[in-house]
Amino acid sequence: MHHLETDRLTLRSWTLGDADFVFDMYSRLEVRRYIGHAPTVMQERDEAVRLLERWSELQHPVHHVWAVERTDDEQLLGALLLKSIPASGTGDAPSGDTEIGWHFHPRAWGHGYASEAAARVLTHAWDAGLDRVVAVTNPANTASMAVCRRIGMTHLGQSDAYYDTVCELFEARRP
Ligand SMILES: CC(C)(COP(=O)(O)OP(=O)(O)OC[C@H]1O[C@@H](n2cnc3c(N)ncnc32)[C@H](O)[C@@H]1OP(=O)(O)O)[C@@H](O)C(=O)NCCC(=O)NCCS
Repeated sequence: MHHLETDRLTLRSWTLGDADFVFDMYSRLEVRRYIGHAPTVMQERDEAVRLLERWSELQHPVHHVWAVERTDDEQLLGALLLKSIPASGTGDAPSGDTEIGWHFHPRAWGHGYASEAAARVLTHAWDAGLDRVVAVTNPANTASMAVCRRIGMTHLGQSDAYYDTVCELFEARRP
């Protein structure tokens, strides 16, 4: 039901068989550097299994965490997320806004894959009836801000509305 395609990519649900890839990706500091408050890398494969279990519990008609694969060789490239974003000062309570995010393996950087997958997920969001999607990045995360711009999101400046921290805030509105 959450299967999406682009010219080069297939977006599908994760399975526990993807744990090695997820562990490899999130055990790298260059991937985790700008995710969350303090950069922490995965230390054990079990953490990847638990993350995949949490993602599979997210049963939602529109929100999803996709595995992004290159279609021609089924090589896993990264994760694309569409989910509720927590409000600051609430202990993780949902803000009511929907966030799009992207985490790719370094070997998949520099090919336009993240932007191609993210643009497809935005289209999915509009097709499903959402009116607005936000993205937040660490102010130093120029690569992620470039993805926001490439998929047509508007930079609204810095905001402390989410995740109890100051982020660069981008938004996209249903065309
Ligand atoms: C953020 C992240 C996904 C960006 O990845 P990326 O590969 O730079 O982004 P894109 O998919 O938009 O690719 C754009 C690059 O591919 C290049 N490219 C090559 N072939 C391309 C093609 N056919 N189409 C488009 N771009 C292409 C572009 O020139 C650009 O390269 P440049 O950065 O040297 O200018 C990646 O850095 C990442 O996973 N970081 C760690 C996790 C993270 O911080 N996530 C964000 C949290 S907010």
